[in-house]
Amino acid sequence: MKILHVEHEELIRELYAIEFEEKEYLEISSASTVEEAIQILQQNNDIKIIICGHKFTDGNSEKIYSLAKTINPEIAFILNLSFEGETNNVSEYKTFKDDNHNNHIVIKPNEAGTILTFINEVYNEIYTAEHGTSPTSLTSTTPSSTPVAPEDAFTNELGEFTLPSVQVVSKFLSPDKDENSYRRVGINRFLRMNTIPAEVYLKLGEEKFIKVINDNEPYDFSRIKKYIKKGVNYLYIPKAQSDQFINNYSSLLKSTLSKPDVPLKDRLEVQQDVLKLAHERANLVGIDKGVIEDMTVATNSVINTVYQNYDLFTMLSSMMKKNDYIVEHSLTTAFVAGHLATEIGWGAESTLQKIAMASMLHDVYLDKEHMASITCKNSVAFRALTEEEQQKVLTHPFNTASHIDQMANFLPDVSSIVFAHHEQPDGCGFPLGINSIRIPQITCAFIIAEDLVNCMYYGKVNANFFDNLTLKFKEKYNRGNFRVALEALISMLDKNSFE
Ligand SMILES: [Fe+2]
Ligand SMILES: [Fe+2]
Repeated sequence: MKILHVEHEELIRELYAIEFEEKEYLEISSASTVEEAIQILQQNNDIKIIICGHKFTDGNSEKIYSLAKTINPEIAFILNLSFEGETNNVSEYKTFKDDNHNNHIVIKPNEAGTILTFINEVYNEIYTAEHGTSPTSLTSTTPSSTPVAPEDAFTNELGEFTLPSVQVVSKFLSPDKDENSYRRVGINRFLRMNTIPAEVYLKLGEEKFIKVINDNEPYDFSRIKKYIKKGVNYLYIPKAQSDQFINNYSSLLKSTLSKPDVPLKDRLEVQQDVLKLAHERANLVGIDKGVIEDMTVATNSVINTVYQNYDLFTMLSSMMKKNDYIVEHSLTTAFVAGHLATEIGWGAESTLQKIAMASMLHDVYLDKEHMASITCKNSVAFRALTEEEQQKVLTHPFNTASHIDQMANFLPDVSSIVFAHHEQPDGCGFPLGINSIRIPQITCAFIIAEDLVNCMYYGKVNANFFDNLTLKFKEKYNRGNFRVALEALISMLDKNSFE
């Protein structure tokens, strides 16, 4: 069954693709722009499902949706939105749910497993229509412990129909250990590596697999290219080794894309991608070693970028695409706080690490912009939240800080910055309501940096913007432990002409 995945972020596209392509009954095409997606749709009139983000560099998803409806109204459309209500004002989506009962909206962060559940529903319907029988006789929640021949592998795929999405997700995070089954991997992925920590098999026939590469054995691309020439689309690795493979593959992507010679624009995009993946993982499994490892990759890359001293405000404007508030403001806060710390004279790598890591982590448990953008509990926006949401906002500094504290050998001060990131100079913040004398200086720098980022994110950055901001910040922050960071900020702003 053919599916089309349209997603502008490469890392997300790759990691979804690797999950989808394991399913033998799926044939996956990917696109990163509207134009690319339209081309694929026009050339393949047998696509059954489109999984699609909303905003792209060359337009929005409704163009793809309209074309898909014209080509075949039966195509199921899974809209993968950055936030709830993102497409509320788009007229093409007014009858979205009525157009096709297999249309779904999935809000990020989500995992490939959630979408796989919907894909399986469509596959189930098509299978039933073609074979006259429902595949329910094949469903089983008990994993087979016998060697998996290709037919049984097919049975196991169908078995997942009965699993709720969360189980499919946990399966993705912790793949099953059935040593006798294989995970299908797109052959092009093997062109990104020279060794992998898994054995690699070529499928010769229904039950015949032949080992072509040993684990950790260097191989050259000519061998892979030869298979591609012969029409091989997939290679196979034992499922028992697939978690090693995925971990290795995603770190390879991150390290490849984070190399210092990667152009700044690409590097900033990758930092966002990596941070987004880490936030998605944290929302599924909490702050664990994997989340911290991903954030460390992003943190180190941010620190290197800070040291290269690019023009901060040009960089910030290019990063605020307004696609994903939580990730964008976390990363831009890391940059502003990093530059601010350097201006104060705290430019040592260890200090920048603390402040950048705190920026990445501080709102990790708030998955919605309308909660994460709250700064004060006396605000109209806070009062407009439901009781449950208010509770989530009020407790996120403590919850996040206490989870950070549980990580052994973690950077000192990160949890205390996170714990106090909603305190205010006049004492009207939360959770403690302490004032400018009791908030530590490093946290004051963080609070000022995040405030600046929010003003830029939600305001109009015109000729008077920074003059007005300076006046406002002088009034708000010229007290107690905020003074040092305020003075550094004013000096940073003075150095930029903002033509
Ligand atoms: Fe925040
Ligand atoms: Fe927060």
